[in-house]
Parts: sequence; structure tokens; C-alpha cells
Amino acid sequence: MKPIELNNSTIYQVDRDFTVLNEYIKKQSPSSIFILVDDLTMENCYPYFISHLETVARLEVIEIDNGEEFKNIETCTGVWNAMIELGSDRNSLMINLGGGVITDLGGFVASTIKRGIAFIHVPTSLLGMVDASIGGKNGVDIGSLKNQIGVINPPVMTVIDPGFLNTLSYQHLVNGSIEMFKHGLIADRAYWNDMNNATDYHSELFNALIYQSILIKSDIVRSDPFEKGARKALNYGHTIGHAIESYCMDEEALTTLLHGEAIAAGLLLESFLSVQFAGLPKSDYKEIKTWYDALDLDITFDNSQIEDIIAYMQHDKKNVNGEIRFVLLEQIGSFKTDQVVSEDSIYKAFEQL
Ligand SMILES: NC(=O)c1ccc[n+]([C@@H]2O[C@H](COP(=O)([O-])OP(=O)(O)OC[C@H]3O[C@@H](n4cnc5c(N)ncnc54)[C@H](O)[C@@H]3O)[C@@H](O)[C@H]2O)c1
Ligand SMILES: [Zn+2]
Repeated sequence: MKPIELNNSTIYQVDRDFTVLNEYIKKQSPSSIFILVDDLTMENCYPYFISHLETVARLEVIEIDNGEEFKNIETCTGVWNAMIELGSDRNSLMINLGGGVITDLGGFVASTIKRGIAFIHVPTSLLGMVDASIGGKNGVDIGSLKNQIGVINPPVMTVIDPGFLNTLSYQHLVNGSIEMFKHGLIADRAYWNDMNNATDYHSELFNALIYQSILIKSDIVRSDPFEKGARKALNYGHTIGHAIESYCMDEEALTTLLHGEAIAAGLLLESFLSVQFAGLPKSDYKEIKTWYDALDLDITFDNSQIEDIIAYMQHDKKNVNGEIRFVLLEQIGSFKTDQVVSEDSIYKAFEQL
């Protein structure tokens, strides 16, 4: 598939072939290579990856525990310390082999150590491939507040190999697919339809849908490098979704909710608000509701929980002067940014869950 250029970074979608990565390493001859993994990508992805990596440089593997709860500054400190002890220098290269947690955290660590070293993302989860590793945003959470600390700094390249999905759990495949559906909702009605018709995560057809998703995100990011307009659309479903996610992280009993699952609820509720505030046709909303119901997520909140979730929305990075700003859909495939919605309407939208 044709490489995609995005803000001084190149995205390659490959099929069990790391030639581009090996050629880059040969040309740059880094002083050392640090590979960041979590325990699950160490077990499931590293053996394949390392057997295909060609380099004479010194290799160091740094492993962290898997999970969103480790995407924080304490984990960064551990990785920074390990890299310094292992003799990293400005000519070292970092390769982030894992899901969105590894690429977000690894990209941030690489961007800041020694004031920044080169790094490459090799995403291994579906969410990482179609979303987290694309666009140059890196960072970590602070407490339960998501992605509050970070930088925008692109990797030198992202190498997407859908072969890694063979070991990813079904729940995480669904999780990643939700961002793909989001790409259809904001940008491309035909793509939304194709996603709804897809039946198999491990097929040529699905690999092509991954590539198209990356194209949609890249086109949006390229058109709006400073997040003044179109790029906000990538946050569709995330104003409410992130608040649900933060709330669930704080409530221990609910920590099993994945990012995409929270976003799916956010997509449903923000689509409901889109009917009222942006003219989304009711028939489009019905399609989105049918899609959401089929996910069978079982996400519900009582009244006081909803109030707490709305309070979390005050931290949304899109807010202006304390007002909660939404991206809303005019129809499937097109959006409006900076829509102000009252807290009361948000509260009522929760009845849709
Ligand atoms: N930077 C961005 O623009 C951006 C965009 C969207 C999401 N994100 C971030 O991405 C993160 C979520 O990403 P995620 O869902 O990939 O999380 P993750 O990194 O926690 O991966 C999900 C789980 O799958 C495991 N895993 C990954 N690849 C595997 C494989 N091939 N086989 C078996 N297990 C595998 C991981 O160990 C983990 O347990 C969130 O922190 C979110 O904020 C960032
Ligand atoms: Zn997301």
C-alpha cells in the first residue's frame, strides 16, 4: 500500500515485512536502539519483531506493565531512568512496539529525553494502528485525567503491520474498530457503510479498511496542523466519551471499560445531541443507535453518576471560557465544530444508553 506522508513523518502499511524500518536503521546507524514494550506485546509481538529486525546497533528492551493505569509520569520516570542508565544518547533510536499506551508514552519519553531523540511507532493494537500512532500526539494521563501532559511531535515513521492483530483479543479488536466507525461518521458515509458490512477482522478487506481509516485521519490532521478547526472532528464522541472514561477510572468497580467502549457511548450520545443541535437526520441517528446496540456494551449510569460525568467534561481541552464545546454531525459524513450544548441537554441525552 502506498506510504502516507504526514507532517514530516511517513506511515507505511506492510504485510509482515520490515524492510522500510531496516533500511532506515541502516541509513541512520543509531548509537543504540531502545525498544519499548509492555508485558503482553513482549510475549505476543516482540519475538516476531526481533526476528525481522536487522541491525548491528546495541539493542535494549524496556518492558512496562500493560494497561492505561500505567500511562503516567511515574512510568515515564522509570523509562527515562532506565534509558539513562543504559547509556542512551542523542543518536539513540526508540521503537515503540505496542498499543496506544506504548506509542503515547514512548513517544513522549523519546520526545523529552535528552531534549528529544528519534522514535518509530510500530503499533500492535487496532486502536494503535488506526488512531493512536497517527498524528504525532504523545503523552500521559495525570491522575484519572486523560492525556493532560504531552507534546505534539511526530515519529520519523509509523510501521503498521496488521499481522500483529492475530494475537489481539476480540474485545480489543472491537475497541479499535470504534475509532474506525468514528472516522466514517465524521468524514465518509461510504466508509461507514463498508465498516458496517465488514465481518472479519483478519482479511485483506479489513486491512484495506485499516488503510482507509489511516487516510481519513491523516487527511484531517494534515489539513489542520494546529487543531483550529477540522482536527477537532477527530474528537467526535470524545467530549462525553473521555468524561465517561475518566469517571470509570476513578470508580474502581468500573475500570474494565476500554477507551473505545467509552467512546462508543460518547458517539451515541453526541449523535443524539446532533439531531437536536446540528440537524442530523433522525434516520442517520437510528443507524448509529442500531450499530451501538449491536455492540452490546451494557453501559448505564444513575442520575448522580451522570452529574459526576458531566463535571469531568469541564476538563475537556476543547472548552472555551468554561463552556463545553462539541463537535456535532450534520449528517453521517459531515460535521460542525464548536457547538455549545447546555448541561441539561447532555443530562437528558444519557437516557439513550
Ligand atoms: N495519541 C493519540 O492521538 C491517541 C489517539 C487515540 C487513542 N490514544 C490512546 O491510546 C490508548 C489506547 O490504546 P490501546 O487500546 O491500544 O491500549 P493498550 O496499549 O493498553 O493496548 C490494549 C491491550 O492490548 C494489548 N496488546 C496490544 N497489542 C497486542 C497484540 N498484538 N497482541 C496481544 N495483546 C496486545 C496491550 O498489552 C494492552 O493490554 C489510550 O491511552 C488512548 O488515550 C491516543
Ligand atoms: Zn479515541
